[in-house]
Amino acid sequence: MESKIPLFPVAASSIAGDVDHLALFLLAVAFFFTILIFAAIFYFAVRYRRRSERELPHVQHGGMILEILWTVIPFGITMIMFTWGAALYFKESRPPDNALPIYVVGKQWMWKLEHIEGQREINELHIPVGRPIKLTMSSEDVIHSFFVPAFRTKSDVVPGKYSTEWFTATKPGKYHLFCAEYCGNRHSGMIGWIYAMTPEDYQKWLNTNPPPTTMAENGAKLFNGMGCPACHKADGTGRCPSLVGLYGSTVHLAGGNTVVADEAYIRESILQPQAKIVAGYGALMPTYQGQVTEEDLTQLVEYVKWLGDQSEGKKPAPGTQGEPLTLPELRGK
Ligand code: CUA
Repeated sequence: MESKIPLFPVAASSIAGDVDHLALFLLAVAFFFTILIFAAIFYFAVRYRRRSERELPHVQHGGMILEILWTVIPFGITMIMFTWGAALYFKESRPPDNALPIYVVGKQWMWKLEHIEGQREINELHIPVGRPIKLTMSSEDVIHSFFVPAFRTKSDVVPGKYSTEWFTATKPGKYHLFCAEYCGNRHSGMIGWIYAMTPEDYQKWLNTNPPPTTMAENGAKLFNGMGCPACHKADGTGRCPSLVGLYGSTVHLAGGNTVVADEAYIRESILQPQAKIVAGYGALMPTYQGQVTEEDLTQLVEYVKWLGDQSEGKKPAPGTQGEPLTLPELRGK
């Protein structure tokens, strides 16, 4: 099976068919015009060849209809390419709201992946089929690129920011994962496998080696260990804003701007707290740049996201009296 080189990689995601159709359309247009142009070259070379030494060419002064045609037709074709490509690009850029989050950290030369339940993997990723997966990706060193040909999806993983990528696997199987950005002398070895499993098999896989703590719990440990609750009191009486209910909300900033509290905002607020100051609060927070790793950051982000869920009314947030949130309280989730 691995011995022959396929003309096309297998299509195993919900978007793969759409990408293939667009690619085939572009190929068909290119092929059609290549044939048309070469046929015209040969036909004109023969039809209008010079027939005698004294023959003078007939002078032609423009042709309005022809000029309009060869302007309007290519314009129409390129606009089809543009709108089709843009629609697909937007579809591929926006993860659905119900997507299962998975965190990816790229470094020379491996992929480190973590599930919110706490399972960690290296160069391997187990996912369920039929469920959108949203990758939140960061890099510890240089630019990498997360590429799964069978899913027709690829996204650069750039140091200093979060990149996202999403896909829904449609067929159980084992698919190649590549780094698609030259990142140093062992770039070609930065490869791995995605295991797409039925939801039952995926649940089994999650249960076979359950880690002692989830990402949010690890994040809570870091949060408490670094002394964050001293200022970020859950009931909002601290010197810094409460983080309960923060995730996904619109934050009003000093200066009048607003920002939606997503993963990127949380990450930035830990590393560059002065970048966006919340209205009504002072610029007190020191930077944690250099004190937390990319993996620590993902744990903290998951913890803040978990705190966000608490505001949605199902049960009162633990620690609402302003005391630090503890692990047993978190476990009660
Ligand atoms: Cu990482 Cu190439």
